[in-house]
Amino acid sequence: MKADSIGESRGVLVKMVNIHKWFGKVHALKGVDFEVKHSEIVGLVGDNGAGKSTLIKVLSGVYLAEEGEIFFEGRRANITSPGDARKLGIETVYQEQALAPNMSISRNIFMGREPTKALGFMDKKAMDKASMEALRNIRLDVASPDLLITVLSGGQRQGVAIARVLHFEAKLVIMDEPTIALSIKEAHQVLEFIKQLREENISVIFITHNLYHVFPVAERFVILGSGEKIADVEKKDTSIDHLTELIVREPSRL
Ligand SMILES: Nc1ncnc2c1ncn2[C@@H]1O[C@H](COP(=O)(O)OP(=O)(O)OP(=O)(O)O)[C@@H](O)[C@H]1O
Ligand SMILES: [Mg+2]
Repeated sequence: MKADSIGESRGVLVKMVNIHKWFGKVHALKGVDFEVKHSEIVGLVGDNGAGKSTLIKVLSGVYLAEEGEIFFEGRRANITSPGDARKLGIETVYQEQALAPNMSISRNIFMGREPTKALGFMDKKAMDKASMEALRNIRLDVASPDLLITVLSGGQRQGVAIARVLHFEAKLVIMDEPTIALSIKEAHQVLEFIKQLREENISVIFITHNLYHVFPVAERFVILGSGEKIADVEKKDTSIDHLTELIVREPSRL
């Protein structure tokens, strides 16, 4: 196989080069390079304020970087809105999950992107069928697509958010602290969903403070510290202790 600048056998899905982001006088990202390969799970870790959320918000079109380039599947991508990112197949599951609690599972999966029949009526049957299929794909067992989000556990809610991205054929799923407010059992369930995404050949960026959650599922770890990339290591070359040490060692610049 030909080895070229865009990676080796597995191929690079997304590549961010020299990304700079300012918030007023705060230099939140200082020339960060970051890449994700096809069906790779990357753990993005680092202390509070390191720039993790800012980096993925640049990738998902929430923020515009002042400097830097993004390549998607080898092509220069101009991501200026969340819609641009979605069109490329980049979907985000946020820290503060945006599900409508008093709406059904299937309405939540399709929110804003409902299939319609003639005269513009929502095609509920198609939505229900596709919702159950997406839930089955991540092995989330629910009795009915009509259940309201309020009756679901935190883990199941994350499952609905993940099923949503699965249905819309994401190539890359970004998860910002998906396990933060969950019980041990629920967090475990979310980790299982993430593994299912990988089996569907979807790449994942998993942001967390909990190295015990990310270590078993990610293959590579990128550590940010004060807006800079301070390490980029394969799992085989590191350990939870080593990653902790790298994060702690980073001098805080208050
Ligand atoms: N909307 C904003 N306006 C101003 N400053 C911001 C904004 N968002 C982030 N920042 C600043 O940019 C820096 C990076 O923040 P960011 O939220 O990306 O960190 P993080 O690594 O996601 O942290 P955490 O682990 O706490 O979520 C911080 O100094 C933060 O205060
Ligand atoms: Mg954050």
